[in-house]
Amino acid sequence: MNKLGFALVGCGRISKKYTEILSSQMEEAELTAVCDLDREKAETTGKKFNVPFYGDMHEMIKEQDDKIDAICILTPSGNHAQNVVDLAGYGKHLVVEKPMALTLTDADRMIRTCDQNGVKLFVVKQNRYNLPVQKLREAVEANRFGKIVMGTVRVRWCRKQEYYDQDAWRGTWAMDGGVFTNQASHHVDLLEWMLGEVESVFAKSSTALVDIETEDTGVAVLRFKNGSLGIIEATTATRPKDLEGSLSVMGEKGTVEIGGFAVNQLKTWNFLDQTEEEQEQVLAQYRENPPNVYGFGHVAYLKNVVDTIHHKNTALVDGLEGRKSLELISAIYESIETGKEVFLSFTPQKCRLGLQNHE
Ligand SMILES: NC(=O)c1ccc[n+]([C@@H]2O[C@H](COP(=O)([O-])OP(=O)(O)OC[C@H]3O[C@@H](n4cnc5c(N)ncnc54)[C@H](O)[C@@H]3O)[C@@H](O)[C@H]2O)c1
Repeated sequence: MNKLGFALVGCGRISKKYTEILSSQMEEAELTAVCDLDREKAETTGKKFNVPFYGDMHEMIKEQDDKIDAICILTPSGNHAQNVVDLAGYGKHLVVEKPMALTLTDADRMIRTCDQNGVKLFVVKQNRYNLPVQKLREAVEANRFGKIVMGTVRVRWCRKQEYYDQDAWRGTWAMDGGVFTNQASHHVDLLEWMLGEVESVFAKSSTALVDIETEDTGVAVLRFKNGSLGIIEATTATRPKDLEGSLSVMGEKGTVEIGGFAVNQLKTWNFLDQTEEEQEQVLAQYRENPPNVYGFGHVAYLKNVVDTIHHKNTALVDGLEGRKSLELISAIYESIETGKEVFLSFTPQKCRLGLQNHE
């Protein structure tokens, strides 16, 4: 099978994950071109991986057209929507980093434009591919919990002022959002993936330890449509270092807790119907902790992208699936601004995420 060619738009922090994987960790894909508005960054990356580099994405696609099957959009979050809309017409499949967009209007625009142009839209939620997360999902699908009582996530990470100061877009409403949108968006997605659609949310937030527009700390209380309850606890104000990124699901017949820095280490696997051997075997297999908060999932995620393109399947996280956590995050902000419980689906009125200062 021919390798699929991937081009990168954006050569910043997360691009290192993509270049590393596409240059050496996948037989079915290869890195074919890179671009960044900051030409120096593009040049450094291009030279390091021996691929053509550009300062403009349109120029890159025009010149490398026959070598590009898919484009990974690794730009600041507030740019994703316009990048997708601008690129969809080239007929290349589009992989966009999380969060897919900052407003539901933008998310809908992206989904519609990709559909109209016959290209697939993939939203990166690599933590869904963490091994213990897949194992938990298997248990949920097999109904091993019986009635699910509660699901909770905790993001206790450390991001100091230097982190926010390294780029002007970080911690702004127009381009990034706060801890709910940036760091915790994976955990919000996982909670919904396990417990299903959310009926309502009530949330509070604070900007505790850094000087940014958005929140570095927040809590949300959820009620799911299936009657179960949920809690999201998210902060980048954990000091002096990262503590955990974790998820717990509790049901009438079992409890699972996944911890580690990036929801990647199985801590508890207790089911009424399990044997001791099963418990020991499952715990032993998933005890390993990842070396950093990006976790292990990007390789598996990109393999799903390739597989979906080859077999014309539906992606695990397409635009519609990626929109779900954005809707919940928007509802969290709506609740924070109004002081009220917000019921989904809803049309944002007071949510500031994705709005320019003058809006
Ligand atoms: N999945 C994850 O775990 C994960 C982890 C980190 C970051 N991210 C996401 O990845 C995205 C990028 O984050 P980052 O930390 O790499 O940001 P960054 O600021 O380090 O890099 C973004 C780069 O995009 C470039 N850029 C902007 N517009 C461009 C355009 N039109 N054409 C070409 N280049 C352009 C910028 O010059 C910059 O170099 C964000 O949306 C972030 O939320 C996801």
